[in-house]
Amino acid sequence: RKIVLENARVDKDGHKHFMAKEIAEQPVAIDRALKAYMTDNAEITLPEGLDFTKVERLTMVACGTAFYACMVAKYWFERIARLPVEVDVASEFRYREPPVAPNTLALFVSQSGETADTLAALRYMDGKADKIVGLVNVPESSIARESDVILPLHAGPEISVASTKAFTCQLSILLLLALRAAEQRGLPLPDGMPGDLRSLPGLIHQSLAGEKQIAASARSLAKAQDIIFLGRGQLYPLALEGALKLKELSYIHAEGYASGELKHGPIALIDEKVPVVVLAPRDELFEKTVSNMQEVMARGGKVILVTDAEGAKIAGEGTHEVIIMPQIPDALAPILYAVPAQQIAYFTAIAKGTDVDQPRNLAKSVTVE
Ligand code: G6P
Repeated sequence: RKIVLENARVDKDGHKHFMAKEIAEQPVAIDRALKAYMTDNAEITLPEGLDFTKVERLTMVACGTAFYACMVAKYWFERIARLPVEVDVASEFRYREPPVAPNTLALFVSQSGETADTLAALRYMDGKADKIVGLVNVPESSIARESDVILPLHAGPEISVASTKAFTCQLSILLLLALRAAEQRGLPLPDGMPGDLRSLPGLIHQSLAGEKQIAASARSLAKAQDIIFLGRGQLYPLALEGALKLKELSYIHAEGYASGELKHGPIALIDEKVPVVVLAPRDELFEKTVSNMQEVMARGGKVILVTDAEGAKIAGEGTHEVIIMPQIPDALAPILYAVPAQQIAYFTAIAKGTDVDQPRNLAKSVTVE
């Protein structure tokens, strides 16, 4: 199947599916996105009119995978730029008629730029927010046209219904935005930032090599009826994204949980038939996540731990499997850990024989309510 997009022919470039191609393209796509917003001297450059100096509140609205990108960004904007952030799914936000605080910047994130609920939420904020910013992959889209400032994603055309490279490009640009906001608000940046973002393409390239191991473990995951994803802090939205991808593609019931919430309900589901994917980079919350993971193992749960080599040494014992990731600066972990989440969903779907690029009942762009 070939797809013609604005006269440019997009094909699978030798990959079995568009999704496989788009996962593999991430190092190049992220590199392009970073170059668009950062100079060779690691200075962040934003379009004119985007200034956080007077911003007192940030409201981010999106749907699906783009919503999870906003959830991750909330951790960055709060932590690094000390900016209060509200994040909501567009279908809730638009009908809530939320009051809008003075000096609010509203940021709408959408791959297609055409999602009906996100566009309606943008129109609700028109005239209420100080500035409307659209982070979109399609610069000619409705959301782009109706924004005061457009941040193009530079991910390149994304064909597969499940969003992959658009998600990691969204995250990369949102992190740059949070860093720039911190600079403009007179706050110090975390060590190595923003220059360290340049290591992302290489690290993602490295992590793509984990494909064979994930393909092998996906054959047993494909037999599960329920799969749980756990993460803490900025990895919590990644647990949600891992679960979303898995259910979209393989039709297996999956739930993402904040590790700390485990004992408030989901732990009741744990037995030897429920695989639990634990996303645990070695950040300041690592030990807490590991202790939640041990609670799962004590109840017979089959843990697939995603961490780096040192994390595997510390916590690998008793797990069913460990997926080793490259070591990475804390703030970048959600971007890197998106890759195994995508690969788990992709290969589980392959093992089940579902239609990876066009899952049943789903559309790439939801332009109706
Ligand atoms: C649909 C797609 C998802 C996507 C969501 C938001 O549900 O299947 O992959 O994340 O829409 O789309 P947008 O284009 O606004 O990012």
